[in-house]
Amino acid sequence: MIISIEKAADIIKQGGIVAIPTETVYGLAADAFQTSAVNKIFETKGRPADNPLIVHISDIEQLDLLAQNIPESARLLAEQFWPGPLSMVLDRQNSVPDIVTAGLQTVAVRMPNHPVALELISKAGPLTAPSANKSGLPSPTRPSHIIEDYEGKVPVLEGGPSEIGLESTVLDLSGNTPTILRHGAITADMIQNIINLPVEETNSSLSLRKSPGTRYTHYKPSASVRWFGESDVETPLSPDIYYLFHTNEVVNPAENIHTYRGNLESFARDLFDHFRTADHLGYSQILVESFKKNDPHQLSKALRDRINRASD
Ligand code: TXA
Ligand code: MG
Repeated sequence: MIISIEKAADIIKQGGIVAIPTETVYGLAADAFQTSAVNKIFETKGRPADNPLIVHISDIEQLDLLAQNIPESARLLAEQFWPGPLSMVLDRQNSVPDIVTAGLQTVAVRMPNHPVALELISKAGPLTAPSANKSGLPSPTRPSHIIEDYEGKVPVLEGGPSEIGLESTVLDLSGNTPTILRHGAITADMIQNIINLPVEETNSSLSLRKSPGTRYTHYKPSASVRWFGESDVETPLSPDIYYLFHTNEVVNPAENIHTYRGNLESFARDLFDHFRTADHLGYSQILVESFKKNDPHQLSKALRDRINRASD
């Protein structure tokens, strides 16, 4: 069911949940300060209770309602990258409900760069919102993905296809060293350039400890997802496999063959939609062209991370 922004604000204020557009992926939103509303998010998604949520704000002044001991680096990053695809993990205010942070002493906050989301947050926020997919499935980047996951039972605020298509970078600023817990469109280099401090990139054991969400299966279509390098490509390509190329220019596009010719922005925007489309069309295998080691593109780490998890 597609609803208006006024209706969405009413639902949120009355303790309900609404799917909302953001520039990264669609979120499933509730009033961050109503525990029973936040609980509906966990129930609806089937999300494990120990996986904390990101709180979305529309105005930098809302940050102090949520976080305390905010380091200067967070202020600098907010100035540079908000609204935008950066979530910062900070010491929480005690007033933030435990259900939002899964009992952690920290809270993740971001200001999304989408006019519809910002307007709704200014009417009814701050809003806590995980990606709006059913737990384990690819994140939704189109309203139709949400209608399909919940059979139309979750109201959706329409905002077009998500501009970026991959979830925000999660940066932990609550410890001594700024640490990226999840790769996204804002990279370690971009962060380092602003704060002039070394930024650690998470390894799997650290992310298990620090970001509970990374423990769970994610982004998985029903089809199996595998990497392949150019030497593995069989010619002719199999009609039974769904292919995603991002550099190869030789292939002819078809229903099951997609090529991005170096345009990783478009590739990222479409990735989760391809996962879902391959399932709808009945393919049981998706092959994704590997990235070169140390591919310098801003999105290559985030893309590699999502495809790796989908292929686990
Ligand atoms: O782009 C995005 O971030 C989207 C849109 C809707 O804003 N949201 C999103 O939320 O991807 P979700 O819940 O699917 O992923 C949030 C990630 C999880 O890996 C979670 O464990 C981590 O952020 N996280 C949230 N709060 C945290 C905290 N206090 N400490 C460490 N990690 C946290
Ligand atoms: Mg998610």
